[in-house]
Amino acid sequence: MQVLSTIESFRAAKAALPGRWGLVPTMGFLHAGHLSLVKRAKAENDHVAVSIFVNPTQFGPNEDLAAYPRDLDHDLSLLKSLDVDLVFNPTPEVMYPPNYQTYVTVEDVTKYLEGASRPGHFRGVATVVAKLFNIVGAERAYFGQKDAQQTIVIKRMVADLNLPIQIVICPTLREADGLAMSSRNTYLDADHRKAAPVLYRALTAAKNAFDQGERDGDQLRSIMRGVIEAEPLAKIDYVSAADATTLQELGIAPSPQPSPLKGEGVLLSMAVRVGKPRLIDNFLYQDGKWLTGELVNS
Ligand code: PAJ
Repeated sequence: MQVLSTIESFRAAKAALPGRWGLVPTMGFLHAGHLSLVKRAKAENDHVAVSIFVNPTQFGPNEDLAAYPRDLDHDLSLLKSLDVDLVFNPTPEVMYPPNYQTYVTVEDVTKYLEGASRPGHFRGVATVVAKLFNIVGAERAYFGQKDAQQTIVIKRMVADLNLPIQIVICPTLREADGLAMSSRNTYLDADHRKAAPVLYRALTAAKNAFDQGERDGDQLRSIMRGVIEAEPLAKIDYVSAADATTLQELGIAPSPQPSPLKGEGVLLSMAVRVGKPRLIDNFLYQDGKWLTGELVNS
């Protein structure tokens, strides 16, 4: 496994390894969720590149850029054990040299949910992902369903800009109690860690209601809200029951969305502060079935 931190050295190393490439973009501090993407990329391609880059342009001024957890040595040992070919680990100056001034803006689907709570976030994500696609030149790139809106934004960008890459979305990996794995879980102290599966419980309650016929967006949101509000350590940023394609909230007057059963799908999602970290999670109902992720025995 080679670790490259400049664009030229990465491209030279890649050129020496012909075949089909899979790319897994990450911000490091890797956990089993990231590794599941790497394993899938290994299974479906001749070679795999993983990028590790804490992208400053996707963090807001009051967000956790400086405090974002990092452990490059541990990340590299995990990736080496999975037989990854190349790791791209650039500095911010390599990705954003002086006089940098070009950004990718995906419009409508970034207006809601994370985009509404974190202005400029998806402009940073789309920009860095477009740059990584151009630098790496992979045939396929792997993203987690954990960041549901991010998958929608990336797929929109790839379609709109005719980027020659196939996007593969992988299931959310969860701890045994349902908490979605996340680098930010490291910020949870013991009490907050115990409270954190409340997101999973809230999503499960809304899913159960949906499965019993509940189709009113207000009802689904209020079920999730009720579960979260019963946990004193949790503070809601948003809860959403939205059309999975447009991300518009379901069942809001004056122009109610068509029945979710006839549409593309329903995305139940939320952002909840549990102590310090702001956690996000989602369940997706698509093609008549739920994508809720996978519990890992730990
Ligand atoms: P990061 O948060 O490091 O996540 C990298 C990838 O791992 C993303 O596609 C994310 O959805 C996926 N992932 C995270 N937790 C997961 C879990 N529990 N199960 C499955 N997949 C999971 O997302 C980013 O970085 C950045 O925005 C990035 C795309 C790298 C651009 O900077």
